[in-house]
Amino acid sequence: MRDIFVGVSGASGMPLAVSLMRLLAAMPQVRTHCVVSDGARAVLKAECGTDAHVLTSLAHTVYGADDLGAGPASGSWWRRGSDPAAMLVVPCSMGTVGAIASGATRNLVHRAADVALKERLPLVLVTRESPLSAIHLRNMLALREAGAVVMPFSPCFYLRPSGVDDLLEQFCGRIFDQVGLAHSLARWTGEA
Ligand SMILES: Cc1cc2nc3c(=O)[nH]c(=O)nc-3n(C[C@H](O)[C@H](O)[C@H](O)COP(=O)(O)O)c2cc1C
Repeated sequence: MRDIFVGVSGASGMPLAVSLMRLLAAMPQVRTHCVVSDGARAVLKAECGTDAHVLTSLAHTVYGADDLGAGPASGSWWRRGSDPAAMLVVPCSMGTVGAIASGATRNLVHRAADVALKERLPLVLVTRESPLSAIHLRNMLALREAGAVVMPFSPCFYLRPSGVDDLLEQFCGRIFDQVGLAHSLARWTGEA
């Protein structure tokens, strides 16, 4: 079993988080853990007209954003399985980018990401902001240098998605590739 910790922060892109959680829930080799920030709850309402249940109902374990005593806030939790855990922040707001980059962790999304970095374990940040200020760019560079994968959500049009759901799933496949999760989602083969 592989533990995948999904942090959902308050950036635009909640349909991508829903798609990701659905795909992870269908992977028998994965145990999904989920924390939804307060900001994410507001964006979920705005973008999907729903509450966090749409995400948390797909998780094996759910944590409160303020629960800084939860397992993933400690390094030992990440290495408890046969394979070390990985963290995905989808979508990742610039507020969360800034908190992780500065080390000033205020909620469990920030703290778990901080732990993943210090333990040198996979951390993928699917960022969402446009345009990007110099502060955003500096923070993202600091995170890349600290070992995170910074992965702005950019659709794979070359895979010719049949619609939005397809487009979201294709991008989830690219996220899975970053943490070595096997999948059968579309992948560019070099043939036009
Ligand atoms: C509808 C909506 C969309 C938002 N989209 C973004 C976004 O794409 N990127 C971003 O950095 N912040 C965005 N924000 C602002 C964040 O939600 C806000 O900065 C929040 O404090 C982030 O907190 P969190 O990172 O702890 O979830 C959005 C807010 C709302 C209400």
